[in-house]
Amino acid sequence: MAGNPRQRGPTRSERQSSQNPDAEGVAGIGGFIQELRRADSGLLLRVSAIAAIGGLLFGYDTGVISGALLFIKDDLHAGTAAQQWVVSSLLLGAIVGAVAAGYLADRISQKYTKVVSGSVYVIGALGCAFAVSVPMLIGFRFVLGLSVGTASFVAPLYIAEVSPPRLRGGLVSFNQLAITTGILISYLVNFALKGVEYNWRWMLGIAVIPGAALAIGMLTVPHTPRWLMEGNREDEARHVLDELRAGDERADVDGEIEDIKEAARNERSSKLGDLFGGRLRPLLWVGLGLAVFQQFVGINTVIYYAPTILSDTGLTKSASITQTVFVGVTNVVFTVVAVLLLDRVGRRKLLLTGTVGLTVALAVLGVYFSSKTLQQDAGWVALAALLVYIASFAIGLGPVFWLMISEFYPTGIRSKAMAVATVGNWAANFLVAVTFLSLGEAITRQGTFFLYTGIGVLAFLFFLSRVPETSSRSLEDIQQELTKEPAAK
Ligand code: BGC
Repeated sequence: MAGNPRQRGPTRSERQSSQNPDAEGVAGIGGFIQELRRADSGLLLRVSAIAAIGGLLFGYDTGVISGALLFIKDDLHAGTAAQQWVVSSLLLGAIVGAVAAGYLADRISQKYTKVVSGSVYVIGALGCAFAVSVPMLIGFRFVLGLSVGTASFVAPLYIAEVSPPRLRGGLVSFNQLAITTGILISYLVNFALKGVEYNWRWMLGIAVIPGAALAIGMLTVPHTPRWLMEGNREDEARHVLDELRAGDERADVDGEIEDIKEAARNERSSKLGDLFGGRLRPLLWVGLGLAVFQQFVGINTVIYYAPTILSDTGLTKSASITQTVFVGVTNVVFTVVAVLLLDRVGRRKLLLTGTVGLTVALAVLGVYFSSKTLQQDAGWVALAALLVYIASFAIGLGPVFWLMISEFYPTGIRSKAMAVATVGNWAANFLVAVTFLSLGEAITRQGTFFLYTGIGVLAFLFFLSRVPETSSRSLEDIQQELTKEPAAK
């Protein structure tokens, strides 16, 4: 039965990776760059970089609000609830965007979905920059969210569909690098503009540039071969693959076309229901568990509210924004470290180590905000704990979530399952953002950090007992472990 993805034979690329573990070993950035040079005549790198602008938008928007909020709150007289909605309306938009993305990508292609996403982003950024009231700002942040949610799903999918199998792992992590770079750029922009008149308007408005770059850039890239094949345009798909693989002596265009045909057959006969019942259910839970814990350990409270947390330690607005730049740099540096280590050390070890690190850092933040003495004499403890926290997230949960959801689902159900996990991630992100400041008022700032510490412990236990190693293993092997049933050979 072709409809049961577990009973299909391995695809050409899976055969390649199970027979040759080194085939996946190129995904570390050193090997990855070397391999890219060998395989690419320039086009693959160019189209992947343009698609990764989606990750940049995701990151820029997530980070920029942290600095802008300090000024918006005075300028537009926004209280706690209004501030939370300014942050969170983007996340509601992103949930809707991620749901719509799957549909749009199938209908009008990933390429045009990203053109739309970039254009909507431009409209949203302009609307935010010229907002004259809190409701108007909240409305346009929702519009931005539609674009960001769409981009967060389509960027990795587009990159995965144009990459040769042996470069796929590295390129997916490359997207997380784009997210963290976007966050860092937003912090630098906040830093550069902190003394300028109408600063928050500029901070939000500058996002027009990457939005336009995405929309225009995507007009210049090809459709993915897989999308063309689904529209029965095999000749064009072959032509695109020939161009993307030009100069790659290990390319096997016929084999890739066969893989796409097989995946399409499985996709057509597998339904979303397969994921919610029966054998594939454990895969759903692991994906959703990673998605939800990635947010419930409070990562975005740090990304959104780092300047607020730091200014609560007694720093001036300006010093808080400056120190937040360290948080952004640490995030990028440790994401690079993760990309280098993921294939050598394995995803699982990094995930577990990172989760221990961030849980300890959360406990330290709880202790810091409980102690008047520490707050008076040792403001550096809060900054140090924030940096350990972000570094630990960046080597583990940050990249590992996005990488694993693109790895452990069977081909036929992958895009639907990825969409479910992506929506779960944005929904969890929303819940955390919308409750953080109110939680602080209800159970104190330290109480909030102790709550996240408890969630960190639960996350660790869940990962320890449920998350398999996916590095250098065939999909059949991973699915066998997760579903505890013999794999189809
Ligand atoms: C998460 C984002 C987060 C970012 C921080 C991503 O993996 O999905 O919610 O803002 O990492 O680096």
